[in-house]
Amino acid sequence: MADALPTCLLNGELIATRDARVSPLDRAFLFGDAIYEVVPCYNGRPLRLDAHLDRLANSLEGLGMADPYPRSRWHELFGKLIEANGGGDIGVYLQVTRGAGAGREFLPPAGLEPTIFGFAWPLAPPGDKQLKNGLTGVVLEDIRWLRCDIKSTALLAAVLLRREANARGGDEAILVRDGHLTEGSSSAMFLVKKDEIITPPASRERLPSITRQVVGDVLDELGLTVTEREVPVAELADMDEAWISSATREALAITHLGDRPIGTGKPGPVWKRVYEGFQALKQRECDA
Ligand code: PDD
Repeated sequence: MADALPTCLLNGELIATRDARVSPLDRAFLFGDAIYEVVPCYNGRPLRLDAHLDRLANSLEGLGMADPYPRSRWHELFGKLIEANGGGDIGVYLQVTRGAGAGREFLPPAGLEPTIFGFAWPLAPPGDKQLKNGLTGVVLEDIRWLRCDIKSTALLAAVLLRREANARGGDEAILVRDGHLTEGSSSAMFLVKKDEIITPPASRERLPSITRQVVGDVLDELGLTVTEREVPVAELADMDEAWISSATREALAITHLGDRPIGTGKPGPVWKRVYEGFQALKQRECDA
């Protein structure tokens, strides 16, 4: 991920990123009591902003918090943040915390003001090497909490899992709970076996990925059917193709699990069509 761009959003104001300050008593800092979104923007326009804002509202509901802004205000603030940073292809990170109390109380005191922070960075497209060779996944036990449908900033488990995957020479941790695949440490999963394209269903074990919806729309356009079902880990090694999807990585093939190839060990034909369809969809939906 590239460095943050110069202008950020803090509590409704656009300010210099280097000058942004929040209290160390903020509950995000003390408890991870906060939620976030990552929205890809192409050509200065957010892709599927309303879907991201719907998920933000659901995450807030999971924390028992009200959405701090009406939809029109979110749209306005997104527009301003993107414009202030020069538009183009950028990622936008947005975080809403429960706010700062007077001390450290597990039970949140009444009347806290949420902290709302957003920043942007240049969003690089997937690199040639990743497109040509795909990524290596490392299968690890899913040690995260049981409300992965909430996009919480408490990401310690994901950080530890990514470190472990990286230490084993992998690009992404492929997570398994109770013998079935949940998701990547920061991505949704798709798999292909013969004519079946599979993605695990929505549940509290997974984040409802927006890019997964986008990929679903691309597959629809291609006339390909997706089956939503649980995938036993034993099936993984035997897949013809696998790919991950996320706001920052689009759709990238997983061609190896550790040293073992998936299918031919090269990005497969279904992924390739999805990738091309994804590029076309981006252009169409985010055309100036
Ligand atoms: N993460 N699952 C998890 C656990 C994730 O963290 C993410 C994305 C996804 C994919 O969701 P989406 O398609 O909406 O990006 C699935 C973001 C990119 C992040 O934390 O940086």
